[in-house]
Amino acid sequence: MADFTPRIFSGIKPSGDLHLGNYLGAIRRFVPLQNDYACIFGVVDMHAITVWQDPADLKRGTLEIAAAYLAAGIDPKKHIVMNQSQVHEHAELGWIFSCIARMGWMSRMTQYKDKVGKDAEKHSLGLFAYPALMAADILVYKATHVPVGEDQKQHLELTRDIAGKFNHDFAARLKELGLGEEFFPLTEPIIAGPATRVMSLKDGKRKMSKSEPSELSTIYLMDDADAIAKKIKKAKTDPEPLPSEAKGLDDRPEAKNLVEIYAALAEKPVEAVLAEFGGQGFGAFKPALADLAVETLAPMAGEMRRWMDDKGAIEAVLRDGAERSRAIAEPVLQDVKRIIGFVS
Ligand code: TYM
Repeated sequence: MADFTPRIFSGIKPSGDLHLGNYLGAIRRFVPLQNDYACIFGVVDMHAITVWQDPADLKRGTLEIAAAYLAAGIDPKKHIVMNQSQVHEHAELGWIFSCIARMGWMSRMTQYKDKVGKDAEKHSLGLFAYPALMAADILVYKATHVPVGEDQKQHLELTRDIAGKFNHDFAARLKELGLGEEFFPLTEPIIAGPATRVMSLKDGKRKMSKSEPSELSTIYLMDDADAIAKKIKKAKTDPEPLPSEAKGLDDRPEAKNLVEIYAALAEKPVEAVLAEFGGQGFGAFKPALADLAVETLAPMAGEMRRWMDDKGAIEAVLRDGAERSRAIAEPVLQDVKRIIGFVS
């Protein structure tokens, strides 16, 4: 690969309350990356409106995700915390990428297919085009790495396909303009750790998400201690005791999920959790997990509330983030326009 500045972009969409999957699969993993990369963390509100959002909820949700980044320990001075719709370069590059991506590629996106089911007709065009905008979020900063949960893997493959096709389609033009052989990097996903796919507490085969049918399926970051304990107590399990080795969790999706959540919260390998709890039943494990979850999430929720009490401070962080994001994105978009042949 050509020499690109190591840079991270990742985003979360404000389309419902933040949950444990967002926290363990994304937010918490962003924090240590600040030591090794220049990072941009976005609240991707333009993605949220691919399905209907109540305007007041959208606004509150946007501020809440920014609050979560800040509460988790993202440094908005050394790095960037921004809101997608405040940086119009995302939308402009998104359109250009909609003309690079092929209908066939987009039609294979499993998240889209799962979401619309057999009923594509009544969904928005934006929902179908969504992964092209996601590629623009990343490539408008020429980000080299994107930390995400497992569910975003296919979208990142598409991002690489779009970058590769752009580099290939305009190879002669890049040469002519002296812009090297690869204009966009082939971005690498960072999907690592025990909780890259946190599952529903009521069904170990379904992903934990904001749209699960039972409210007991999903732990929200702003849940209080009682709600967290109740949801873990009522989580689906099986009658067997926990195994002492990880392979004993195969074919036990609910047990595997709870052990992985414990491992992620405790920042320990799954093997270490099983060395401690192997042979014990859920009667012993669940209260330990509930205590650990409350202990870990309560300070985060408290810090988020403190930020939410000063919305002006969050808005100031986002305004500064938008300005610094544009300083990176604008020259990239100008180059893209020149490469394509737009008159400036
Ligand atoms: P979103 O908003 O659905 O989720 C935000 C992040 O949380 C992760 N995540 C999970 N991780 C583990 N277990 C789960 N159950 C779980 N649920 C969600 C997601 O993988 C994600 O990292 N398309 C993206 C937003 C986006 C984006 C981007 C991400 C837009 N542009 C550019 C990265 C780079 C999305 O809908 O994530």
